Amino acid sequence: MTSSEVTVDVHLDAADVVAALAHDAALGLSATPKWLPPKWFYDDRGSALFDDITRLPEYYPTRCELEILQRRAGDIATACPADTLIELGAGTSAKTTLLLDALAAAGSLARVVPFDVSEATLRAAAVTLAARYPGVTVHAVVGDFERHLHLLPGGGRRLFAFLGGTIGNLDPSQRAGFLRQVAESLAPGEGLLVGFDLVKEPIRLVSAYDDSSGVTAQFNRNVLAVLNRELGANFDLERFAHVARWVPEHEWIEMRLRSLEAQLVSLPGIGLDLDFATGEELRTEISAKFRRDRVAAELGAAGLRLAHWWTDHAGDFAVTLSFLS
Ligand code: AVJ
Repeated sequence: MTSSEVTVDVHLDAADVVAALAHDAALGLSATPKWLPPKWFYDDRGSALFDDITRLPEYYPTRCELEILQRRAGDIATACPADTLIELGAGTSAKTTLLLDALAAAGSLARVVPFDVSEATLRAAAVTLAARYPGVTVHAVVGDFERHLHLLPGGGRRLFAFLGGTIGNLDPSQRAGFLRQVAESLAPGEGLLVGFDLVKEPIRLVSAYDDSSGVTAQFNRNVLAVLNRELGANFDLERFAHVARWVPEHEWIEMRLRSLEAQLVSLPGIGLDLDFATGEELRTEISAKFRRDRVAAELGAAGLRLAHWWTDHAGDFAVTLSFLS
């Protein structure tokens, strides 16, 4: 049996992550209105809750993207016969496997680079990938996709994948910065595969983010549990209601936590005392929804060319493949 080579580059340790959380909490919670970046949902419990979300009847994006990749993985490997798959937001998901199998079948696969903020998640992913793809080099990288893209290993022909619709969590200026950074690190012939959730009837969008079994509500409140644990805060999760709202002028879903009463919360880890008024809302996530024109324009502004646009049969979700313009 051939064994795979596994390496792990660590650009971010646990202390850096807590420092980044402290920085984001200090900035967002002292602003008016209060807000937090969505990346802090994903501790072990938050990741498990997100996993549950992907199986909810109301939450269509994961199933739609999987349908697209099942049908198009071969086309992707033909359009970009890469020897390296770089997966931003590492996974051992069914989606990663479809892409890797297609690249392997095209005969080009030599290396996989899972990239994630969580070292534990990555180490587990690296072991699973090494066992499943003997002879393929596994080069895991612990980092933040908004800060460490330039540290990803080069050489060969790389396909970057940023799936799940996670790009929608970035606001327009963060998105522009992210796409520009990817474009700067791409060589001619290297590709960028991105999953975009598409604009559709608001009622379907809102129910995807406010499911009837309340899993998304628990996921939303979990960010408060993260602040309690990491910053010694004393949020009472029961005193916040889950809110999901479609914002037509931005074409994004916003998740918020609404304070059910007037309350004081302290965050000793950052020396902050917070006042919440009754009904005051803390924004915890934006999840932007896209149309083809806007996707092409944003890619174009970053120096990227939209080469392929694949949707599921219902037209709910798109996977795009881009190259340098
Ligand atoms: C993982 C960012 C794609 O925005 O749909 C799911 C996260 N938030 N339900 C999304 C999420 C609420 C999800 N992404």
